[in-house]
Amino acid sequence: MSSGRRVIGAQIGTSTYPIHLGAGAIGDLAAEWPAEASGSAALLVYDENVAHIAETVRAAIERAGKQVVSAPVPPGESSKSLASVERLCRDAAAAGIRRRDTVVAVGGGVLGDLAGFVAAAYQRGIGLIHVPTTLLAMVDSAVGGKTGVDLPEGKNYVGAIWQPAMVVMDTTTLDSLPPRELSCGFAEVIKYGLLDGRELFDLVDGWPTLPGPQEPLVDLIQRCVAHKLGVVAADERDLGMRATLNFGHTIGHGIEAAAGYARYQHGEAISLGMLAALRISSELTGLPESWRDRTRAVIARHDLPVQLDAAVSTEEILDATRRDKKSDGRALNMVVLDDVGAPSINADPAEDLVIAAIEELRQ
Ligand SMILES: NC(=O)c1ccc[n+]([C@@H]2O[C@H](COP(=O)([O-])OP(=O)(O)OC[C@H]3O[C@@H](n4cnc5c(N)ncnc54)[C@H](O)[C@@H]3O)[C@@H](O)[C@H]2O)c1
Ligand SMILES: [Zn+2]
Repeated sequence: MSSGRRVIGAQIGTSTYPIHLGAGAIGDLAAEWPAEASGSAALLVYDENVAHIAETVRAAIERAGKQVVSAPVPPGESSKSLASVERLCRDAAAAGIRRRDTVVAVGGGVLGDLAGFVAAAYQRGIGLIHVPTTLLAMVDSAVGGKTGVDLPEGKNYVGAIWQPAMVVMDTTTLDSLPPRELSCGFAEVIKYGLLDGRELFDLVDGWPTLPGPQEPLVDLIQRCVAHKLGVVAADERDLGMRATLNFGHTIGHGIEAAAGYARYQHGEAISLGMLAALRISSELTGLPESWRDRTRAVIARHDLPVQLDAAVSTEEILDATRRDKKSDGRALNMVVLDDVGAPSINADPAEDLVIAAIEELRQ
């Protein structure tokens, strides 16, 4: 086993499963295939952009003695649709995939959400193994069990909570990830730094380049995963503390939507959203402004935006923010920081405060 490889035990509700993390972790699929995935076949659902990684995964599944049924999916958010779910379920049925067989999901958050939902729904639920291949998927979407697809009416509107039997985070898969995607994943890492506390924030603040040296990177991912697991374990169904993971996302989602999901990638929009949330925190809780300055510097250092495009109007951001499904229709439920490492929910910050925080992003 190469240095830095490790196994994290996840425990969420009644589910317990291992997360294999480190360079070469895909090899563990063969040796550590979960006992409950006792069927003779696996549906290998993969993003076409990671066909090279899917080949390695296929070989590992075959070494585990399973027959592999391949199901490539075109890249992009548009694949997170009910049409894709129907196609994959029908492919599974045609190939004879049964209740004890397993979906193996290889790709970023789009693929993981889609394939995870197929696993949750097909024959009322079959086994699932996540093999995330983006930094965002490793620190965020492959952890916690949320799966789903989009409707024309809204993102992630149809889905299920479905925990995997195993997660395999092989950090060498990040070698082919485009720099912009690495930066977007790092935006979520910065978020964990602010939510978790000074020690993790300092580590994030001092991060050299992306993805960064292997062993420290494995440590960094582990710390983010541990933070998310801790919060999710306490609130699997997203009724309380899990909402704190939404830090920077209230205004971030508003910016993403107001810009037509085109100008900004998710991680870019939430970088701006975090800066606005830090401003609002300073006003409401007295959080020192120096945290916003440090965060702004680390965001800029990793090629994420610190300045809002003039073409995106504040009014449209506010409208989109109010429509966001995370707000309950009346209140924004904004996550603020009482301190770094101490998030809380402010149901309804004054509108002029929110507007001022958005306007400040234009400077
Ligand atoms: N389930 C959850 O809890 C959760 C949490 C956060 C985000 N999400 C969802 O995750 C999705 C975003 O995920 P993402 O940022 O990983 O985007 P993504 O899956 O679209 O991947 C980003 C891009 O990188 C490509 N790619 C992926 N891995 C690669 C690799 N190793 N080498 C080269 N190219 C690669 C993909 O084809 C795509 O073009 C959104 O749909 C979001 O709703 C879900
Ligand atoms: Zn996010």
